[in-house]
Amino acid sequence: MSPPRNSIRRSQAWFGRQDRDGFVHRSWLKNQGYPHDQLDGRPVIGICNTWSELTPCNGHFRELAEFVKRGVLEAGGFPLEFPVMSLGETQLRPTAMLFRNLVSMDVEESIRGNPIDGVVLLMGCDKTTPALLMGAASCDLPTIGLSGGPMLNGKFRGQDVGSGTGVWKMSEMVRAGEMRMEEFTACESDMHRSKGHCMTMGTASTMASMVEALGLSLPDNAALPAADTRRNRLAQLTGRRIVELVQQDIHMSHILTRNAFENAIVTNAAIGGSTNAVIHLLALAGRMGVDLALDDWDRLGSQVHCLLNLQPSGRYLMEDFCYAGGLAAVSREILGLLHGDALTVNGKTVHHNVSQAPCYNRDVIKSLDMPFIASAGIAVLRGNLAPDGAVIKPSAASAHLLQHRGRAVVFSSIEDFHARIDSPDLDIDEHCVMVLQNCGPRGYPGMAEVGNMPLPPKVLQKGITDMVRISDARMSGTAYGTVVLHTSPEASAGGPLALVRNGDMIALDVAQRRIHLEVSDEELASRRAQWCAPEVPARGYAKLYVDHVQQAHLGADLDFLVGGSGAAVPRDSH
Ligand code: FES
Repeated sequence: MSPPRNSIRRSQAWFGRQDRDGFVHRSWLKNQGYPHDQLDGRPVIGICNTWSELTPCNGHFRELAEFVKRGVLEAGGFPLEFPVMSLGETQLRPTAMLFRNLVSMDVEESIRGNPIDGVVLLMGCDKTTPALLMGAASCDLPTIGLSGGPMLNGKFRGQDVGSGTGVWKMSEMVRAGEMRMEEFTACESDMHRSKGHCMTMGTASTMASMVEALGLSLPDNAALPAADTRRNRLAQLTGRRIVELVQQDIHMSHILTRNAFENAIVTNAAIGGSTNAVIHLLALAGRMGVDLALDDWDRLGSQVHCLLNLQPSGRYLMEDFCYAGGLAAVSREILGLLHGDALTVNGKTVHHNVSQAPCYNRDVIKSLDMPFIASAGIAVLRGNLAPDGAVIKPSAASAHLLQHRGRAVVFSSIEDFHARIDSPDLDIDEHCVMVLQNCGPRGYPGMAEVGNMPLPPKVLQKGITDMVRISDARMSGTAYGTVVLHTSPEASAGGPLALVRNGDMIALDVAQRRIHLEVSDEELASRRAQWCAPEVPARGYAKLYVDHVQQAHLGADLDFLVGGSGAAVPRDSH
């Protein structure tokens, strides 16, 4: 493909004018000390920054942006950094996912409304990556993604401890009486000891890998730790490259083709990536006008072997992944399954970028003929409980539970769950199926990461660490277990999940891709007649979201944001 070249910069519609409005656009900008020649038609590069002290994973982004600027200036561009709303997974209530689409609107309109020729997206904590990708995609300017990088390995009493995964494990040990609360809290300072995002193969690391697999970042984006100075060099090189990308007129739509998404799905399976990638990539494809469906995840990814021995599915952490060779080493192993001719933002193909990539540690990155887990990609389940689909991550599940039949124990909300799960009177054992309702996109609202419900103490005390759990929620990419997620339609939209009652039998058969509620159609119709839709928010963004959010199997974007509007804004501001 040979992208078209244009000679007149978009930014010159602001800065190139010899009239009153040209004066306004240039003169106010000069109050920051820029000389006139910065506005002479050189590429103006927007650096979209999700820095916030309330988003600890992105807390180093002010510094990272300076390295991008250095590269932009070296290549003859003019960098202008701008903030957008940030989403801190660990602080934001009720859930950062509620605001992913809001941030995407912020990003889209910030890019479109301003004199920008190309964009660098600074992304890290979970939802900041899809939000920025989605917003930028709807504008379709030349764009490069730059992730902030994972934290160094957590170290606690001589052992590696992984973000999230270690918390869920130790918390269950406390509830089982195997660990004291003082020991648990002592780990707080040791788990997260450097800048960066979660260092397990959670959602942030998964999405950083997806950015690289899609071809939207320079090589090495996925695994370089935030604290490694090579991350700063990557930022500088990104700054240089975005200027060239503008000069070559290579837009996001040249990179984010159907083949690029297929590469990302295969890669997600090979790295044991988060189920959250399913929702985010479906939404991103919707913005690009790429016809991607939930079933593509099963068709393209489920038979792909997981090669990465990383938590939560395995043992190691992102720092080890980097030293073992990073994503390129995985991509080389699965190159035969990828579209090697897909273009990436460095102007080279996937094949060119990865075909000679070395692997330095075969215990971290396994080979395709001796994989870590065979056929471990995300599986899409269907049945009368999930007519539009549900997902499960087999690599993070217990093999003996992938085919299971059990009695439902139903929680109508996350508050109901918290109120009853620790009660000795709760009628539950390890053979039961835990069902959580009303935690989907509309129900929570925002589809929180609560699908990996902690087990009841009476089960944990028997030494049992996994049970089948089903919900319309998501789960943290750092979590694990036999957890069926994203059930669609969700309970709050009247999906069959809303009709499950205590004592119903549920059959899960992952090999057959089946999730079935053993209740007659007549009985379900009777229950449906009695069902009342829950109350929804009355005002503000939450109301806009609930009124317009699509179901999980479509990516949970707002219906009016699907697609794009390009970058043209012909009307002046004065
Ligand atoms: Fe930010 Fe995990 S909390 S990446």
